[in-house]
Formats: sequence, C-alpha cells, structure tokens
Amino acid sequence: MKEDWRVSNRALHIKNSAIHEMTRLSKDIEDVAFLSWAKPTSDTPEHIKEAAINAITDGLVGGYSENSGILELRKEIIKKLKRDNNIEADVSQILVTIGAVEGLSSAIMALVNLGDEVILPSPTYSTHIRQVIIASGKPILIPTIEEEEFVLDIDAIRNAVTPKTKAIMYCSPSNPTGTVFSEKNLRCLADIALENNLMVITDEAYEYFTYDDYEHFSIASIPEMKRNAISCFTFTKSYAMTGWRIGYLHADETLIPHIKKAHMPFAICAPVVSQYAALAALQGSQDCILKFREHYLSARDVMCERLDTLGSIFEYQKPRGSYLMFPKILLKEGKDSTMFCKKLLKEAKVSTTPGVEFGPTGENHLRLSFCVPEEMINKAFDRMEMYFMG
Ligand SMILES: Cc1ncc(COP(=O)(O)O)c(C=O)c1O
Repeated sequence: MKEDWRVSNRALHIKNSAIHEMTRLSKDIEDVAFLSWAKPTSDTPEHIKEAAINAITDGLVGGYSENSGILELRKEIIKKLKRDNNIEADVSQILVTIGAVEGLSSAIMALVNLGDEVILPSPTYSTHIRQVIIASGKPILIPTIEEEEFVLDIDAIRNAVTPKTKAIMYCSPSNPTGTVFSEKNLRCLADIALENNLMVITDEAYEYFTYDDYEHFSIASIPEMKRNAISCFTFTKSYAMTGWRIGYLHADETLIPHIKKAHMPFAICAPVVSQYAALAALQGSQDCILKFREHYLSARDVMCERLDTLGSIFEYQKPRGSYLMFPKILLKEGKDSTMFCKKLLKEAKVSTTPGVEFGPTGENHLRLSFCVPEEMINKAFDRMEMYFMG
C-alpha cells in the first residue's frame, strides 16, 4: 500500500496500539472477562473529588496556571519526593505535567536529536517506544533476563551504548512484567550513564505498588545523578486518577526550562482543576494507596494460583510490583501473540494484551492485568481452564 503523503514519517513509523485494538474487539463481545487494561478500576477518593469541586466553585480553575504548575502543588511534591523517594528537590526542579506520559514525552522532545538512540530494557511499556519514535529518535530495545524475573541485563546495556546513545529509559515497577528493578541494578545503570554522559529517564508510575519486601528505588536519589536523571511520576495509579491527566517530573533546574519548551507548545500547563485535585491528594490521607496495594497483592496471588493450574499452557515469573504480569505462552500458537489473544477473546471471551505490543521480545507472551476485582480474574481463569483443558 502506498504511504499517505499527508502523514509525517514519524507518525507513519508508529504502529497502532494493540491495547486499543483489543478494547475495540472486546466491545463486540458480550460479557467479556477483561484483563487487558492497566487502568485502576477503583474510583478517585471522595476528598480529592471534593477539592476539585471546591476549586471550581471558588473560581480557581478558569485560567491557565504557571506553566510549571501551581506553586503550592510543587511545594507539596517536593515534600513527597523527599519522604517517599529520597530525592532532595526544589520547586525550580518540578514540572507539573499531563500525567506521566506528557512528562516523558516532553523530556524526550527536549533531549533527543534526530537519530539519537534511546536504550529501552525490553519488554517495556509500548508508549515509551512510541515516544522515542515521535521525537525522531531510535529506540534500542535491550532484552531483560526473563529467567531471572525480567531483571536488567546490565552487560547487554553497557554493550549497547554507542556514540549516538542519548538516554536510557525504563519503568520500574514495570509495565508489562511487574519487575521491580533492584537498587543494586539501578546503581549499575547509573554508573553506565555517568561513565558515558547519558541521561536516564524514569517512569515511576507504579512506585507504591511493590510486594514481597521488594522496594522501589528512585535513581535520582543518587546525588551524582543530579544532572543525568529525569524522573516522571503520576497521580493516575496511586490515587486512581487516570482521567484527571495529572503527573509531574523532576529534573535538574538547568534542564527544566528546556523541558518546558516542549511542554508549552503541547500543553501550556497541566489542567488546573486536576492540579487542585492533586494538591488534595498529596495533602490528604494516604490510606487509599495502602488499600489499593493490599487489593493488588491479593489479586496477584489469586492470579498466580490460577495460573499454576494452567502450567502446561503458561509459564510465568511472579510479578513483584505494578499490577501486571507477563506469562510466556507455551503452546506453539503463542508464537503469534496477536492471533493468540484475538482467538482467546473470540472463543473464550477473555480479553488480554498480545505481548508483541511491548517490543519484539514480548512476542510469545501475553500481558494480564490484576487491577480488577478478583471475581473478574476468577471468571477469566474459569473460562481459560474450560477452553484449554476442556
Ligand atoms: C508504565 C506506565 N507509565 C505511565 C502510564 C500512564 O500514566 P499517566 O496516566 O500518568 O499518563 C501507564 C499507564 O498504564 C503506565 O503503565
């Protein structure tokens, strides 16, 4: 097919999202057991919604805010970064963004020149791959070590560095594998960045969701990384605020003005009503985070138990964080994960995400989300047991 002359090469190089494709296909099927979205199913806590309503009623949200975000919110963010991430920050180092995703995009736009390489431990969140391509950079996917719970392959990353490498970008806890990169591994990654003058861009969307004594570590807490790290955070997962589109990034104060040059033409500022909601989220009780974490942990255990009974179909690494896992499909039909997932949807009414969405090393896998009610997990696995085991 001839390429559409109207469309830029950047856009043409980006594949359509399999997640959205599965969602579209799922809509045609009645009573689907839905394990394909990484979206919290809980509603935003009441006190956060009330703060937003009050901000609207008080006439605070009709205009733009400062491009970097309202000062009061940035002040709360620096307290949180100190308390939970061990990052010493100043308000001049914070940019409030439209979710983590806009922060990541703005960071990449500010760093990457045409053809610059960005190393992504793979499989990884597919949006990261698209963000590099839309900035005219080149994603370099370096496989993680699946047999060791998808840990970083530090030697492979070191060997992948070339004169064109500009940055390393990762999410931990990981979407799609649920891996929590260890402090030890991340310190090695920091060494690679410092030795080679590379930036590290982090996506810490699932920072609070770790299990089994695994702990989240922020690479920006290493003082030597001050000039080399851009760390992106979000309210989406921690406070069930997906639709509010609000997050923030932390970077060296000399870099923030450049990141703002990308942020402003796309956004001007983050939605002001959501900034007030985010302020209430940080100032109010943090109990919802604990409650969500408890639910995900228990849902993870249910999912792992149910997967154990399908041991001839799937092999999995136990997720230690996030609310996602990435089993390998042992059947030969799994070689084409898109076909496999579409068939599973059509014939067993279970919606999952094909692993290839997360880079070529994701082929032969599927992604399952456990941020759903446990009944949904059981319904999906009852159907899969019937489908595979008869
Ligand atoms: C790793 C990761 N980063 C970012 C996001 C989206 O974050 P936000 O809603 O803050 O843009 C998601 C959503 O699924 C995610 O899995």
